[in-house]
Amino acid sequence: MSYDTILVLDFGGQYAHLIARRIREKGVYSEIVPHDITPEEIKSFNVKGIILSGGPACVINESSPKLNPKILEMNIPILGICYGHQLIAHMFGGKIGPGKEYGATYVVIDKPVDILSGLSKREKVWMSHSDSVLSIPEEFEVLAHSKNCPIAAFKHKNKPIYGVQWHPEVIHTIKGGLIFTNFISICNCQANWKMENLIERMIEDVRNEIGNGKAIIALSGGIDSSVAAAIASRAIGDRLTAVLVDHGFMREGEIESIKNAFKNMNLIVVDAKGRFFEKLKGVFDPELKRKIIGEEFVRVFEEVSKEIGAEFLIQGTIYPDRIESGFRRHSDKIKSHHNVAGIPSRVKFKKIVEPLKDLYKDEVRKIALMLGLPREIVHRQPFPGPGLAVRVIGEVTEEKIDIIRKADRIVREEIERTKLKDKLWQYFAVLTNVKSTGVKGDVRAYGYVIAIRAVESAEAMTANFARIPYKILERISTRITNEIPEVVRVVYDITHKPPATIEWE
Ligand code: XMP
Repeated sequence: MSYDTILVLDFGGQYAHLIARRIREKGVYSEIVPHDITPEEIKSFNVKGIILSGGPACVINESSPKLNPKILEMNIPILGICYGHQLIAHMFGGKIGPGKEYGATYVVIDKPVDILSGLSKREKVWMSHSDSVLSIPEEFEVLAHSKNCPIAAFKHKNKPIYGVQWHPEVIHTIKGGLIFTNFISICNCQANWKMENLIERMIEDVRNEIGNGKAIIALSGGIDSSVAAAIASRAIGDRLTAVLVDHGFMREGEIESIKNAFKNMNLIVVDAKGRFFEKLKGVFDPELKRKIIGEEFVRVFEEVSKEIGAEFLIQGTIYPDRIESGFRRHSDKIKSHHNVAGIPSRVKFKKIVEPLKDLYKDEVRKIALMLGLPREIVHRQPFPGPGLAVRVIGEVTEEKIDIIRKADRIVREEIERTKLKDKLWQYFAVLTNVKSTGVKGDVRAYGYVIAIRAVESAEAMTANFARIPYKILERISTRITNEIPEVVRVVYDITHKPPATIEWE
């Protein structure tokens, strides 16, 4: 790789990948590598800087992830973030102890120099830590502190080594971008990397992985699988067949609209409704549901592949699907995304190819625009692979899917009549497994409670519930209770992510 590169060493933090993409947004190539990378391996990149990510462990524990100490002597600029900040302090003999801060916090910038150059005296930042750096040796200088964190940022006096306790990579840290710009200039990096380079590389990679073979792409009509399909089709042409599985949990009109959008591709639509409902009978646990759906998807794909002689499965898996499924050693599992942790351990494919596996949704959107995909696909709200099945809490039945499909249509229609649709990341209905008493036409009614969820987000790793005007919520609620006889009550979900996730299951 000829581009100047900043490596992000991954210590398992939920936001580690965001660091790499923030750097890439600034035109500098950045890649995530495991934290136990060796100095020799580092030399195989054109490395101009190293960032140590956050992570859930406690640096002073024996079993916590370590950094090869020789990396600190390579004279490459290093920035430690959160866990990385504490790790540097610990490795140089500083003291780490309990000290918690979560969420938006104010820090006092004591010295606005180097990485903190251009920051004001008081800055709003995003913290998420249970330990703090309590003291640091003479050769370091403290650059910032907060109420509960005496050493919130530091620099080494003679080496380009820095640490910040907060997360400059999340959008809640107002001047996070400036910290990265400062670090990039400390690293002396050329900003000559572009998204187009990535597209070329992905096409090349798919071509190399598949060789002369045939592949199927798991198409859901969402932006991720559509972009993966476009990339794969540029890589292997008509040796690619798209497979759309109708599991019975699609939104109203969805199968037809996907068929229409992909009419110029080899496309097979499999009606698998019966087998999915059958498999989910009596299943209440959300993780089990996701795993069953993930496995059934793969079984359908295997059957189609056998028929057409394809050995490879291509999926539009993106980075957040993997991180939340807990694919890394030191990160925590949040939920099993159907296309990651839902994949059974034995599959009949030579390989599963995932060209978008390191990207975030909004990066995928940018690529979609560059590839010229239709607007309706680029701006479609994300829809999970397991579909409405994870929006019915508890056991999935045809009756419940029918109810939630109607409610989903109403929510979409009402939001899409307004300008809100361009601001919202996702808006949908959830069928709770709570029943409640109501009164319809002067008669007692006992029926379901539907929850409405609408969130704003930049990349789905964090999200805020949307402050939808009451007038719109009222219209949604009135229509749902009028048009769906089984529903007596509608509630609005006012929880951010974290602590909630976007989907309820
Ligand atoms: P959560 O609920 O984890 O969702 O906050 C983050 C984003 O991912 C979507 N999502 C999924 N997408 N397969 C998918 O393809 C899944 O199993 C899955 N689960 C959640 C969710 O809609 C949101 O955009």
